Amino acid sequence: MYEQECVPFAPALIESMRSLGYSFCAAIADLIDNSISAKASEITILSYPNSNPSMVILDNGYGMDNDKLYEAMRYGSHNPLLERETDDLGRFGLGMKSASLSQCRKLVVISKKDGKINGYSWDLDYVIQKGAWMLKVFSEDEIDMYEHIDMLKAMDSGTYIHLSEFDRVREGTGNLSETFAKCLDEMMNHLSLVFHRYIDDGLVINVNGEKLQARDPFLKNHKATQKKRECPIYIHNQKILLSPYILPHLSKLTQDDLDKIGGKEALRNDQGFYVYRNRRLIIWGTWFRLERKDELNKLARVMVDIPNSLDYMWSIDIKKSSAILPDIIRKNMYNAVYESVLSSESVHTYRGRKDKKSEDIEYIWERRIVRDGCEYLINRDIPQLKMLAETLDDKQVKMLDGVLKVLEEAFPVTAMYVDAAKGKIEEKTVNDEIAEKLWEELQEQIKYIKDRGLDIVSYYKMFMKVEPYCNYEVIKENIKKELAKYE
Ligand SMILES: Nc1ncnc2c1ncn2[C@@H]1O[C@H](COP(=O)(O)OP(=O)(O)OP(=O)(O)O)[C@@H](O)[C@H]1O
Ligand SMILES: [Mg+2]
Repeated sequence: MYEQECVPFAPALIESMRSLGYSFCAAIADLIDNSISAKASEITILSYPNSNPSMVILDNGYGMDNDKLYEAMRYGSHNPLLERETDDLGRFGLGMKSASLSQCRKLVVISKKDGKINGYSWDLDYVIQKGAWMLKVFSEDEIDMYEHIDMLKAMDSGTYIHLSEFDRVREGTGNLSETFAKCLDEMMNHLSLVFHRYIDDGLVINVNGEKLQARDPFLKNHKATQKKRECPIYIHNQKILLSPYILPHLSKLTQDDLDKIGGKEALRNDQGFYVYRNRRLIIWGTWFRLERKDELNKLARVMVDIPNSLDYMWSIDIKKSSAILPDIIRKNMYNAVYESVLSSESVHTYRGRKDKKSEDIEYIWERRIVRDGCEYLINRDIPQLKMLAETLDDKQVKMLDGVLKVLEEAFPVTAMYVDAAKGKIEEKTVNDEIAEKLWEELQEQIKYIKDRGLDIVSYYKMFMKVEPYCNYEVIKENIKKELAKYE
């Protein structure tokens, strides 16, 4: 036997490495990972959409000296099997190169440490031309040519990344400037979510002068968010922490809250586990097939914290955007899910219950527990029906009851369930326009009550407690004003 080295053919491999499946957002997030691992407290992204856009990502982390930077440019700069610092977001020694070049053809990395600045570049066309893994090494004058490089020079230490020739974005569009602007928008949203815990802890990410705000998918600061009992799981002496949250009901969410969780649609679609690797969100909105995604558990979100020492168990991929749940963790997670889903269910069903007297609300639909499940019945005590019944004779009252029973029997359970799960019907949200309309309708009913000589005060009191009027503060205030006239 004898041996012969078989080096990968640079132009072919470097091109193949571009197709790992990075999205624009995931690629930039991978570069931010590196800045965080380098203990940066401020990251600046500068990029303006035009017909030939470029992007600068600058951090004030500890930077790299010449040897370290040269090593960092190497594909496979770190062995993925080596143990990493507990707060290191890297694993494969590939991200900086593969993420950047998945989107563009030219990557320049300039870093400052101990007062010295060094710069290297991977240029795909240069590698193809040379047919070899040839890096470009820059002189100080060449470094000075780069846009915004003064910002790095003014820092004690830090790293500057310049991306240009975004061919992958160009391929999919006739209008690069417009598409790039959209990519930047999505990227801002993505970074605000993925790094929300770091931003909350003081990390500043500035994009074109705008400081990103943390998008907390659990709305922890909302007073109606419920935090359930935390549940630690120990695997090989390493802790995985599950923290279930139940989001507030849609009717309690402002537009700002909805923006944070990704919109009304996301309330249902993005339920599930939120997996954080070293507090960086890597995968979210999935139950890993443990639970059905449906209307009932749409408010449940479970924060899962895993340390990077368990990467091998989760089969973390190079993009850090997918992970496979091993069976032992799966089994243990079920308890946490079970608790959160059950509680989420109660937030929904509670709205239809009559037995919650403490709320002092008369619900139109009563949910009754029966032996093999539950049934929904129309509450005969609501003033709308009482008022009608008071003007009918006994026979007509019986007929009315018969009509209500038929309606209850014909309740389209399956169709409602399917439509609700698809988001085609939502519970009504509270808004001023509806309040005004309801108040007008209520005036009509009060007129009817007056004409029939019924007791207006007791009806006003009943209306104040019944749906839908009880959901509107402005209507309740109006009723109070009317009642004051009778005191
Ligand atoms: N912004 C930065 N500041 C300081 N050092 C950096 C920075 N970016 C990269 N490095 C160094 O370059 C190395 C290579 O980065 P790269 O992203 O390619 O791989 P990684 O972070 O080690 O692993 P992964 O492929 O999982 O991201 C890093 O390990 C780090 O030492
Ligand atoms: Mg990295």
